[in-house]
Amino acid sequence: MPDNIPEPQAVCNPISRSAIFLVATVARGEDKAEVVRSWCGDIAALVRAVGTRAPTANLSCVCGFGADAWDMLFGAPRPAGLHPFREFGSGDRRAIATPGDILLHIRADHMDLCFELASHMLNKLGDAVTVVDEVHGFRYFDLRDMVGFVDGTENPTGKRAETYTIIGEEDAEFAGGSYVIVQKYLHNLDAWNGLTVEQQELIIGREKLSDVELDDSIKPSCSHSSLTTIEENGEEVKILRHNMAFGRPGAKEFGTYFIGYARTPRPIEQMLENMFVGRPPGNYDRLLDYSRAVTGGLFFVPSSDLLDALPDRNPHTASSSADENRQGDAREGTLNIGSLKGTPQHE
Ligand code: HEM
Repeated sequence: MPDNIPEPQAVCNPISRSAIFLVATVARGEDKAEVVRSWCGDIAALVRAVGTRAPTANLSCVCGFGADAWDMLFGAPRPAGLHPFREFGSGDRRAIATPGDILLHIRADHMDLCFELASHMLNKLGDAVTVVDEVHGFRYFDLRDMVGFVDGTENPTGKRAETYTIIGEEDAEFAGGSYVIVQKYLHNLDAWNGLTVEQQELIIGREKLSDVELDDSIKPSCSHSSLTTIEENGEEVKILRHNMAFGRPGAKEFGTYFIGYARTPRPIEQMLENMFVGRPPGNYDRLLDYSRAVTGGLFFVPSSDLLDALPDRNPHTASSSADENRQGDAREGTLNIGSLKGTPQHE
């Protein structure tokens, strides 16, 4: 990552043993918005306060904002790729959009630290937010997910992880940021476990025990691994996944929390389309015959530096760059007609 890119949040931190995923909506009213803006400036200090007491436990927190929340809390301009979550599929096989203004992805090797940090975060926010989804995830044995396969093998690592996830000069004002899509999946494990291991392997595209990728001669084009392998201009585009298992055996709830980071939402959206609609249409991901997405959201993750500065970004008091442009044009006596100057960068 070039030196002039602001420090990202902990997007590329290594896999942890535990995680809490919180999705919240922000209450209406300027007083509530002010609480949230001010809280943005406290996040780093709260992570330090909890994490310093257990230095080897790798506590981290990534905070993201949905499109409507961004406009309401911080005004224009909006990050270039930020828009409400796009739905894919039809009937029972649907990647649905569900409400969510703020995402917190809290990770550590011990759940007590995740719990402690989540509690402090929510205490500060008070009634300015309502938590609409909370999932406590754990790393299953061998890094397997709830369907029993090793999950995360093809994740990019090191510098490549940053290249695929961190915004650069293509959206200079939001450089150091990232995009994240989350979906909570519930599995019909009785049905899944009714399949033979060979049938499961053809659905995923890898061997179950060894995690070795199936040979191209036997791997179906509708396998999960085929449909989520995508190219842009002849080059493979990767995303960074930090999926976690969750569930309550007593309630027969078995789930995978999908969380994928990328430099623009496009590759993840393409993967979702391939999975839910099919590539070509109809050649869909058979994992979805056994797994149902019950939530879906897209969030922009500001750089660490921008997150710290968000308390000052009140759209009602600060003069945005768009306002400044307009004032400048008025001084110069132009109407700025036909110009793109000061236009918010919506996708
Ligand atoms: C039910 C939820 C899901 C489960 C249980 C699941 C599981 C897996 C497993 C076991 C692998 C193979 C090992 C690996 O490389 O990680 C994999 C690969 C992958 N998955 Fe998923 N996944 C799920 C949802 C998704 C979604 C929603 C996306 C993207 C929109 C996605 C994107 C990928 C990608 C990019 C790969 C790597 C493909 C490759 O390069 O071979 N997954 N997934």
